[in-house]
Amino acid sequence: MTTPPATEALPDPYTPGQVPRVLAGRAVELGRIRDRLGRVASFGELAGPLLVFHAPRGLGKTSLLRTAEREAAAIGFASAWLACSRERPFLPELVRSVERALDRVDLRVESRRRWRDRLTSLSVELGVLGVSVGGEVDATGDRSPDAGAAPIGALEDLLHEAARAVRDRGGAGLVVFIDELHAASADDLATLLNAVQNLDGDRDDNPLTVVTAGLPVTPEAIIRAATFGERSAFVPLDVLSDDDARQLLVLPSDALGVTWEADALEAVVRRVGGHPYLLQLAGSCTWQALRPRAGAVVDEAAVDAGLPAAEVQLTAMHAARWGSATELERTFISAMASVGPGNVTRARIAAAMGVDSRSISVPRERLIEKGIIEPVGHGLVRFTMPGFDAWVRARGQD
Ligand SMILES: Nc1ncnc2c1ncn2[C@@H]1O[C@H](COP(=O)(O)OP(=O)(O)O)[C@@H](O)[C@H]1O
Ligand SMILES: [Mg+2]
Repeated sequence: MTTPPATEALPDPYTPGQVPRVLAGRAVELGRIRDRLGRVASFGELAGPLLVFHAPRGLGKTSLLRTAEREAAAIGFASAWLACSRERPFLPELVRSVERALDRVDLRVESRRRWRDRLTSLSVELGVLGVSVGGEVDATGDRSPDAGAAPIGALEDLLHEAARAVRDRGGAGLVVFIDELHAASADDLATLLNAVQNLDGDRDDNPLTVVTAGLPVTPEAIIRAATFGERSAFVPLDVLSDDDARQLLVLPSDALGVTWEADALEAVVRRVGGHPYLLQLAGSCTWQALRPRAGAVVDEAAVDAGLPAAEVQLTAMHAARWGSATELERTFISAMASVGPGNVTRARIAAAMGVDSRSISVPRERLIEKGIIEPVGHGLVRFTMPGFDAWVRARGQD
């Protein structure tokens, strides 16, 4: 990056809502991915089972996977990326993302042609279950009793052949990143888990690894989809430590020659904690308020001037979450917020709603799926976005 002249206000280096310029902390988590990549690169073998990072929104799952993707590309991997969604079928997406991955690493023309033919026939196989490939949907809807084996086999072939193609031309192997895994259907999850498990049976001939991320419901969804799914490696992402939170603020501005006073850092960390999205937002709003030039110093006054804008953004996000909830879910949220911040028991929520604790399962599950609340063990739940409980309480008083 060329540094602009000292007389010009510098561009904002913070990235609320986007992959960060510099990933702060997460050394342990990146280490887990590097281990997998290292095994594939060194031994040419499948580094399994599924690696699954799980956390509420905003804690940095996508950022972690994107950072690892860059590292993987730099050491000779072909990397396929896909984000699951309830609206799109998963397997055709995966076929396309593997195809794009192979397009990016330049396979020889002749092997590329062979590969394209193979992809077409795999797409047809995957079409067996009525998944849409290339816009065509199997209209019959029939599923023969053992139809489940077809996509598993096709997916195995796809991953095996793609990984071999990369390895055979001197690359390290294939890495598949799957984001938003909680949104995959149980059938698709089962297909993925079975395919990876089967490939593990011939580990030495499958130079690939699969790295995934999703909301806190992901481990449960995986285990429900296939009992052996419990052998996946589940890694929770927590908020950043205070040190890493300071790094998140300092690293992007350092690169532009702007420094933070210790008091200013403390003020941000004290007010937003270690939540990466909120830190990026606070950093960005502080920057916009100060509009620093090279050599400038961010002080506490700049933080005080910037944070109100962050509050406005945060309020909009709280309102969006509230807006996405049904009437019953809102009653649940209000009851939960009335109990206060932190972990709340099912019994206390039910009591605040004036109902039996068994009857709140449905809104509870739906709110977990929406990422508004998360389970924290022993039947306890908490809100995933800091400050949401206070916003809901304040709303009730309007
Ligand atoms: N380790 C990190 N260092 C710096 N910024 C981060 C880090 N983790 C997340 N962020 C920032 O937080 C926000 C949310 O990150 P994201 O990866 O989208 O979270 P998730 O996928 O868990 O919802 C993004 O704006 C990103 O820039
Ligand atoms: Mg994400």
